[in-house]
Amino acid sequence: MEVIIQSTPEHAAHQAAVRIAQSIRRKPALVIGLATGSTPLRLYDELVRMNREEGLDLSQITTFNLDEYLGLPATHPASYRRFMQENFFGRTNINPQRTFVPDGMAADIPLHCREYEERIKAAGGIDIQVLGIGSDGHIGFNEPTSSLASRTRDKVLTEQTRRDNARFFQKPEDVPYVCLTMGIGTILDSRQCLLLAFGAHKAEAVAAAVEGPLTSMIPASALQLHADAKVYVDEAAAARLKLRDYYDYAVKHSP
Ligand code: GLP
Repeated sequence: MEVIIQSTPEHAAHQAAVRIAQSIRRKPALVIGLATGSTPLRLYDELVRMNREEGLDLSQITTFNLDEYLGLPATHPASYRRFMQENFFGRTNINPQRTFVPDGMAADIPLHCREYEERIKAAGGIDIQVLGIGSDGHIGFNEPTSSLASRTRDKVLTEQTRRDNARFFQKPEDVPYVCLTMGIGTILDSRQCLLLAFGAHKAEAVAAAVEGPLTSMIPASALQLHADAKVYVDEAAAARLKLRDYYDYAVKHSP
């Protein structure tokens, strides 16, 4: 894994945005996997700015979101479809027809999950997958002990994740117990992964994912199996990394 440590979340998000923008300029029909939560917001702001001010054309990209809450319609204020619409899709020239988010209201969940996987394949696979990390080390909504070979499916959320995400709901009891999420196998199939993590509350999960043993107890550690995974962190999220100095040195000397 390549660890890129920046002084602030703004700098880290900018670096990740530049990488995505370069890829879009090379391949305008790029297929991008997207994440929700607070972490990617600065990245989306930066891509919106590039779209408006720097002529970065997003009209041909296809996007696949990692996850959605089961039972929430797209119009629900806490649904991830709505989150994406408000924070990214609706602020750009992205073609809405090419934005895919798992449907939390799908009548036949196993069928919907299989079709989601098929759709990713039909689009040519995910070129760049954007990821955040949960405080328990989850990616997407793959909670600890998720199979490292898992595909898109339903998953019961841990109490910790429900507490962490309660801020997006009116009442903590409103957080659904179940979600739909791409699997770890789905994420590992992407050509490149960009994981972003900011703040001291992510430091332990980041260290476990990057330097800890490969284990389903820390789902993000599965990225150790990915041939092209980059981790963008600010100083606070990097605080528990043992090889912190090496990562700076590697970035400096990398050809
Ligand atoms: C949710 C999402 C994850 C995200 C995580 C971290 O659980 N399903 O994809 O990475 O939250 O969220 P935040 O960035 O708000 O800390």
